[in-house]
Amino acid sequence: MKIAPSILSVDFGKLKEEIELINQSDADLFHVDIMDGRFVPNISFGFPVMEVLKKYATKPLDVHLMIVEPEKYVESFIAAGAGLVSFHLEATNHAHRLLNQVKSLGAKAGLAINPQTGTSFLSELSGELDFVNVMSVNPGFGGQSFINQSLSKIRLIADHRKAQNLSFEIEADGGVNHKNAIELKNAGADILVAGNFVFKSQDPIARIAELKKI
Ligand code: DX5
Ligand code: ZN
Repeated sequence: MKIAPSILSVDFGKLKEEIELINQSDADLFHVDIMDGRFVPNISFGFPVMEVLKKYATKPLDVHLMIVEPEKYVESFIAAGAGLVSFHLEATNHAHRLLNQVKSLGAKAGLAINPQTGTSFLSELSGELDFVNVMSVNPGFGGQSFINQSLSKIRLIADHRKAQNLSFEIEADGGVNHKNAIELKNAGADILVAGNFVFKSQDPIARIAELKKI
């Protein structure tokens, strides 16, 4: 299981220390939530924070674009240090083209899907994917409750992957904690994103280790 702590939940007053904490932990990736106030009802941060991450993070940056017209920005985010990029299926008419563009620019290409979105995209797009980001909350905010139906969706995606002999990864994003992490693993998830569960605790390193052990 790969663990991707979400920096949306860190204390930005000490961003460098928070990055160093993740560097020293069992985490595999930095999950970086980019929100534009249009695709989602919140604005997070952008390139100045990417610059700090690029400078200090020693693990790959998993950039989750919650923005309209993601095709306008993938190149800049990859230049800014993104090792993985997911954009939303609901935000573009050209997911196939964009997945291939991300890969041609040297990053891993992921498609993120909202809780309302089904799995029919798999028949056309699964062969292009490095990973799928299954949102287990409605995107826009950290600290929301896990939506249970995401488990059955992950199972469907994992079944498709097996039936088609594919090897893309499945990321679960939103409301992840020590209780649902086991169910997520059993359903077929490979990457767990965790924000509040990790950073709204006294001991983030221990929380990351707890998830990693699953
Ligand atoms: C939600 C973001 C998530 C969020 C996860 O819009 O995409 O990555 O930071 O935070 P928690 O784990 O607190 O739900
Ligand atoms: Zn995210």
